[in-house]
Amino acid sequence: MVDFPQLRLRRLRRGERLRRMVRETDLGVKDLIYPLFVAHGRGAKREIGSMPGLFQLSVDLLPQEAEEVAGLGIPAVILFGIPETKDELGTGAYDARGIIQQAVPIIKQAVPELIVVTDVCLCEYTSHGHCGVVVDGQVDNDKTLELLAATATSQVEAGADMVAPSDMMDGRVKAIRAALDGGGFQAIPIMSYAAKYASYFYGPFREAAESAPQFGDRRSYQMDPANVREALREVEQDIAEGADIVMVKPALAYLDVIRKVRDSFNHPVAAFNVSGEYAMVKAAAQRGWLDERGLTLEILTAIKRAGADLIISYHAKEAARWLADG
Ligand code: PBG
Ligand code: ZN
Repeated sequence: MVDFPQLRLRRLRRGERLRRMVRETDLGVKDLIYPLFVAHGRGAKREIGSMPGLFQLSVDLLPQEAEEVAGLGIPAVILFGIPETKDELGTGAYDARGIIQQAVPIIKQAVPELIVVTDVCLCEYTSHGHCGVVVDGQVDNDKTLELLAATATSQVEAGADMVAPSDMMDGRVKAIRAALDGGGFQAIPIMSYAAKYASYFYGPFREAAESAPQFGDRRSYQMDPANVREALREVEQDIAEGADIVMVKPALAYLDVIRKVRDSFNHPVAAFNVSGEYAMVKAAAQRGWLDERGLTLEILTAIKRAGADLIISYHAKEAARWLADG
């Protein structure tokens, strides 16, 4: 057996070319999905306070944004909508003239090759801010399914290439798959937010999407951060119901969950590098406390190393630029 001093692991770390040859994890722009927040109005570009560099964009500004994203080599965007008005049943989510239904064709017309994924949830559209129908102060699972199915269908009718349910109701993948197939959309994949935790890391997103719950919290439907076996059950269930891609969310504090899901199933795994993860990096970088480029590429590499095939990240555009210039 070779031992020190013959064995020297440092030999393969001499120089960047050599390190690159033996690198085990390959982060590429092809892995990234960029989130966009779409709002009503014209010429409106409102920066999100807790997410520097991210904006709520009005529909007319989307072609330019989509061209930039595609030009960087990023293959896909995921859309979140901010409706003009909210109500108890979140009707804006499945309105044929809703904000997402307006946004999708504009992006597809401008940049047909850009894959448009739509987030399927009600929380941006409900007056109470919950992800489902509220009955007697509780989020009613089964009453919500029909509205989620209607939302997914209307998004696909508008031209969405893939739908991503994020509500964490039981049975939503099944309901959405049935509705899409019934509508002739057998070819449209479902990327399910399968293991989505009730996380404090979503804070900045709720500012961006104006979707904070007006009472209580989301712990009765999103997962307990302490659980990992339960995540495998969620993923198993979503796969059984027809999910094509399964997601773990958040990413950074849940790398062990990503690894377990990767090792337990053969479906593509997505990870959501969420708003709070982005905000922490931005805040520290703005103070000069950490190097943003180095930190971001290290985090994204770690998420891939843990087993993610796809990464949804607010840093996607910057990461694409950094990856391009080596
Ligand atoms: C809505 C939704 C949320 C996120 C994606 N879709 C927030 C939530 O569940 O409160 C979080 C994204 C992020 O923090 O970046 N269901
Ligand atoms: Zn929601």
